[in-house]
Amino acid sequence: MITVGILTASDKGSMGERQDESGKVIAEMINEINGEVSDYRMVPDEREIISAALKSMADDKGIDLILTTGGTGFSPRDITPEATLDIIERQVPGIPEAMRSKSLEITPKAMLSRAIAGIRGKTLIVNLPGSPKGVKECLSVILPVLPHAIEILKGQTGECAEK
Ligand code: MTE
Repeated sequence: MITVGILTASDKGSMGERQDESGKVIAEMINEINGEVSDYRMVPDEREIISAALKSMADDKGIDLILTTGGTGFSPRDITPEATLDIIERQVPGIPEAMRSKSLEITPKAMLSRAIAGIRGKTLIVNLPGSPKGVKECLSVILPVLPHAIEILKGQTGECAEK
């Protein structure tokens, strides 16, 4: 079982003015990797609030995987990648690279997501775009690799060799 934290960054959502469809998509999709939602937070697009929430999910709850949605674009309030960078210890560039390159086959707008991924302690944190469509397309690219990534992070395997 993989413990998953979902963080939705949305000013409107946090004021109750928008339903969190993207968070629901994440919750459904992680079933494929035997993921279980152990924390869910909807926060405004505020750097300190996002980074504090990520930190608390990683440090206090020891969550394996945190998936964020929203706030990766160009609007003045989009700040999720910066908030994530504030608290990760190591970047994982291959994850956003893969999401963007695969998604570019579907829409050129994929290049507009500034999503990053990184590691804090034994927690992997991945930014996803804000739309349910963007979440579906990006998460489906990385989902098959996440169980192995998390196993390595938790020290459950050091073996990457494929037969
Ligand atoms: N990636 C995929 N796969 N599919 C999409 O529809 N939308 C893009 C991009 N990434 C999209 C995507 C758009 S239109 C934007 S503006 C950025 O993600 C940032 O979205 P966000 O600010 O909601 O995080």
